[in-house]
Order: sequence, then C-alpha cells, then structure tokens
Amino acid sequence: MEKIKEKIDSIRKVLHEHNYNYYVLSQPVISDFEFDSLMKELIDLETEYPEFRDPNSPSVRVGSDISNNFPQVNHRYPMLSLQNTYSEGEVTDFFNRVKKGLNEEFEIVCELKYDGTSISLIYEKGSLVRAVTRGDGRMGDDVTDNVRTIRNIPLILKGDDVPDYLEVRGEILMPWNSFEQINKEREEQEEPLFANPRNAASGTLKLLDSRVVASRRLESYIYNITGDNLPTDSHYDNLNHALKWGLNVSDSIRRCKSPEEIFDFINYWNVERKNLPVTTDGIVIKVDSLIQQRNLGSTSKFPRWAIAYKFNAEQAISRLESVTYQVGRTGAVTPVANLEPVILSGTTVKRASLYNEDAINALDLHIGDMVYVEKGGEIIPKITAVNLEARQDNFMIGDKVRFASKCPDCGTPLVRNEDEAAHYCPNTEGCPTQIKGRIEHFVTRRAMNITIGPETITLLYDKGLIKDASNLYNLKFEDLVGLERWGETSARNLIDSIEKSKSVPYERVLFALGIRFVGETVAQKLASAFPSIDLLIQATLEQLTSVEEIGNRIAQSIIDFFAKPEFMEFVQRLKDHGLQFELSEDILAAKTEKLKGLSIVISGTFKHHSRDEYKAMILQNGGKNSGSVSKKTDYILAGENMGPAKLEKAQKQGVKIICEEDFLKMIE
Ligand code: IVH
Repeated sequence: MEKIKEKIDSIRKVLHEHNYNYYVLSQPVISDFEFDSLMKELIDLETEYPEFRDPNSPSVRVGSDISNNFPQVNHRYPMLSLQNTYSEGEVTDFFNRVKKGLNEEFEIVCELKYDGTSISLIYEKGSLVRAVTRGDGRMGDDVTDNVRTIRNIPLILKGDDVPDYLEVRGEILMPWNSFEQINKEREEQEEPLFANPRNAASGTLKLLDSRVVASRRLESYIYNITGDNLPTDSHYDNLNHALKWGLNVSDSIRRCKSPEEIFDFINYWNVERKNLPVTTDGIVIKVDSLIQQRNLGSTSKFPRWAIAYKFNAEQAISRLESVTYQVGRTGAVTPVANLEPVILSGTTVKRASLYNEDAINALDLHIGDMVYVEKGGEIIPKITAVNLEARQDNFMIGDKVRFASKCPDCGTPLVRNEDEAAHYCPNTEGCPTQIKGRIEHFVTRRAMNITIGPETITLLYDKGLIKDASNLYNLKFEDLVGLERWGETSARNLIDSIEKSKSVPYERVLFALGIRFVGETVAQKLASAFPSIDLLIQATLEQLTSVEEIGNRIAQSIIDFFAKPEFMEFVQRLKDHGLQFELSEDILAAKTEKLKGLSIVISGTFKHHSRDEYKAMILQNGGKNSGSVSKKTDYILAGENMGPAKLEKAQKQGVKIICEEDFLKMIE
C-alpha cells in the first residue's frame, strides 16, 4: 500500500511540474502523448485506490460529473472595483494626486487590464482550497471545482517561501480561439451565441458540469496577491514571486516613474494588444509600494492607489445600404445590416448584426444613414449609433427600417411570440430554407453522419427527390446516377452512407431530429432518462424538468415539437425505415425499476465502486441522481469524507443517509 501511495505521489508531482512548464512557461518538455499516458496511469491508480484521492490531484483537471452547487462565501478582503477613465488628462491628474497624497518618492506599476471575470483563489499552506467569484465584492460564489480544471492555475504552489495563507486575485479568460470554436459549435446547433469572450468565461465558470468547464480551455492571469507575510513590500516584486510559485503572471507588467513612461506603455499596448490571444480593454495603473497603497487607502468602492485607463473601442463610420433577413432551420429570422465596405481593426467590414426588431427601433435606423460600427469584444461588428447630423442634409436618406413582415424565403407572414425578441417563420413544413437547414443538421457528423454536402441537399430538394430527411432513406441508386455529374461511385457511396446511418445510436438520432435547444449533451441526458422515443413523447413537463440540466425552456420545446403532427409523422417515417429509437439492448438489459421514483445524492469517496459507477447504477435501476440535497432528496449515498455542508443540510431536511453496502443491497 505504501508503495502505491508513493507511486501516486510521484506521478502527481511530475504532472504538476509538466503542467507548469506547459501552461505557465509555455515550454513543454514532454510530448502530449507522454503527458496523457502519465495522466491515464494516475487516473487508473486513483480509481483502483480511491482512499488516495486528493482534491488537488492533477487528475481533477478533467472535471467530474458531480453536479456543482455554488454556496456563497464571504471574501476575507473585499474585492474592490477600479475607477475608470478614457482620458490621458485624468491619468496625469491621478499621478499628481498620488504625488501630493504621499509627498515622497513612489513608483508606479502598469499592467494590462484583462477583460474576463475576476476570481479570488485561496491557498492554504500552498494548496488551493477555494476559488470564489467577485459577486458583489463582499460575497461571491464558491466555484472551486470548476476552477480546479483550469490548466494554468496551480493546484499546489511551488517553492518553500509561500505564505501559509495567501489570497491570489486574477482574471479568468476564454482565449479567442476557444471562444470562436465554441460559438461555431453553438451556431451549428442553433444555440444562442456568446456575445463576447467575457460572457463566455463567466457563463462557463457557473456551469454545473465541471467536465464541460474543463473542455472549454479557460485561462487565468494573476494581478494581485494578498495575505500575511508576503515576500516583499513591492507589488511588482510580489507578482514576480507569484510567477515562481507557478501562478500565471503576465510578462507585460512594467515599473514606471513618470506619466510619460505610463503613456508609452499605453500607446504600445493599444496597438500590440490586438496580437494577444485574449481580450484586454485597457491598462491598470497602480502604486507599487504596499505601504504607500495602505497610506492612500480606498473610498467605499475604489482604491485611491490605482486607476484603470480604458482603450476606446475601435469605431468606423459607414453607410447603411440595406437590411436583409436570414432564416435558420428553426425558423428564427435574423436581420443583417449591409454596409458600404469599411476597414475596422484591420479587416473589411461589410455586414453588421442588428439582433432583432427592438434593437433596430432603438437605433431609429433609416436606409442611407451614416452609422457607427464597433467591434469591441465581439467578433461580429455591431451598429452602436446613427450619425444624426449627417442625416440632416443627406439626399440619400431613405425609409425608416421596419422589421420584415414576411419570410424572406417563402413569403409567409412572420410571427413574434409574446416575451420574445425574435421573429419566426411559422411555415415549418413548407419553407425551403428551414427544410434544407433541418436536413443539413440531420446529416452532420455528430448526428447521423451521412456524407452529403449542402449543394447535394439543395439539388435533391430542387429535383423533388427529398422533402425532408426521412426521404433520404427512400433514395435509390438509380435516382442518383441519373443526376448531372453523378457517377456510379459517388451514388453508391451516398446510398451506403445512408444505409450505415440506420445503426447510429438512439441518443444521436434524438439530436439529429433538430428539436430546438436539444444539443448533443441534452440528447444524451434525455436518452438515458427516457430510453425510448415513445417514453419521451409521453413525458410531461414535470418529468422532463426532473432530468438534470433540463429546464422549462428545453422541456417546453420538446413538448411543442411532439405536439406538431408533421413532426410526429416525420418520426414515424424514420421509425419505419428502421432507425434506432431505443437505447441499445445491452444497456436496456441491465435496467431495473428497483429505485423507481427515488432521488439519490452521492457524496464522499467509496471503497467498492467509483462515483461514476454508482451514478450509472442509480440510473440503470430507475432512480434519479441529483447533485445537491433538496426537499426532493430521498437518500444520500455517503462514502468517506462526505462534505460537512451536505451532511448538515441532510440532517436538517431529515434525509436518510445510506452507506455503500446498504445501497448495493437495495439493487441486489
Ligand atoms: S486590480 C483593487 N489589475 O478589472 C484593485 N484588475 O474594473 C482590483 N482587471 O474587478 C483590481 N485586469 O476583474 C486589476 N491588471 C489588473 C486587472 C484587473 C483586469 C479587472 C478585475 C477588476 C476589474 C476592475
């Protein structure tokens, strides 16, 4: 046993070191493959010997499926905000105020102002024990499990001069490339896009499933350390110490002595920041000495020893030529502004998003208007205002823009539901763009994986060979070889690919149906809770919302989908063609109803099986696994080290606590 513990400890140590080399220093010394193999070895050992689990093991980076809850925690030191300015004059005023206030020599530290979401990390004896969001500055949400998955946040600090209690503050960001990737996936699934990386980062930190957080590749930048016995009295030197402890401090920080040096920093980064992998929206100017910071003090909101200089969002001005409308596969209609081409942040902009009718009305847009476009943190530029002066003697000014009343594709009058900002084309059955969009979704790789491109779909649709995705299964070899530029091989390949899709498992078929808000993960959750489509069709709103992560919005959309006869007929046609509408035999064979109607929370670590295995057993036996204790909880399956918060809550609510052996007897 001692040997195993030693082995686990040594792999952990090696992995912590490689993490630091890779994510903080950006200098990996082993290959990804070697890293992954070591990680796998560690996870295998930890699964086999759960008694050696550790919340700060490098394996926590992959996240876990235990549903998070985010208790509110008080900040020991309040998380203040910064006074903002857009004017260089006010930066000079700040410098002079500090000079007068201190009446002695002082130095300034200039840093980039990262545009993400702030976090407070608490390290005790070098170990990460808690991570809390800013909240209202006095109290925030405990998001520790999610933060543990962020690769460049050390779980254990390096070095022997780390103070016993240390509070580290910084910004959590989603790099541009992850942001673009995630939005691309969301667009494919017609899920609402994140407006900017900041929203994406803060939304991700609050996700219930830390495995999803782990997959989103968040990063941290550390800008402050607080605590007892800090190494020095200089903020700048302390940040350099933090870097040695393994924290990710930006190498852009500079010590300055005069306003001129501060302006050099501002001007340099105002250009250079565009080459950074993350968003910055200004620079932060701080007094370096901690004693001087204390002497200057704070107002109730802001420190007097720091100020933020914000960069102006880059703007361009252009003429609005027209507004066009696009229909998606769910019928949602989005307005797009077409502009006279103009250069903004180095790229030519021809189009800007207009969001919805309310946004158009708020701008009081007229065709021919000169409009201001900004990119800011967004990828798609937006119109922020109209130049009203230019409108006065503008002979090119046209009509006021009014939202389209008819579908741009099929001409059906659009509808706008109460309490919703979006317009829809209600002609789900007859609108060609919607139909083709649904077929394109149906065939995607992660759904039915049929190798057919959008042009072929349009061709087959125009020829009247397919009216919806179910008609793909009626296609014959002869139908295809007769088509222009279609040879025997491509016809055979398509027919084979369609035939092969009949064995795609139920959860992917469910995703392929294109029910609004039912992405891949939701489809998987639905499939295990309702192992056949018939059970799903019969499910009530209440039954649907009792499934983890399924809220009212998704549940209602599922009910609406099956309430439409045309979709029910579509499902029936797919069934007749032999698609999978039930969980596979193997999975079903092991199913029982021994825990039917019981809601069970899992807590602690276990001897006989892993938490994942217990979770699967609950579902297999008809029970529900939920992440936190509530009035609805029937049992807590408690292992060792059950969290004290859960224990207290359980005792208050009078929930029964059972051990592993009790549980295994229940499902025997
Ligand atoms: S110092 C009391 N430094 O900006 C001083 N903040 O507007 C606390 N931020 O909540 C903040 N980069 O989330 C500081 N280099 C930096 C920063 C930074 C980004 C964020 C931080 C803070 C907000 C204040």
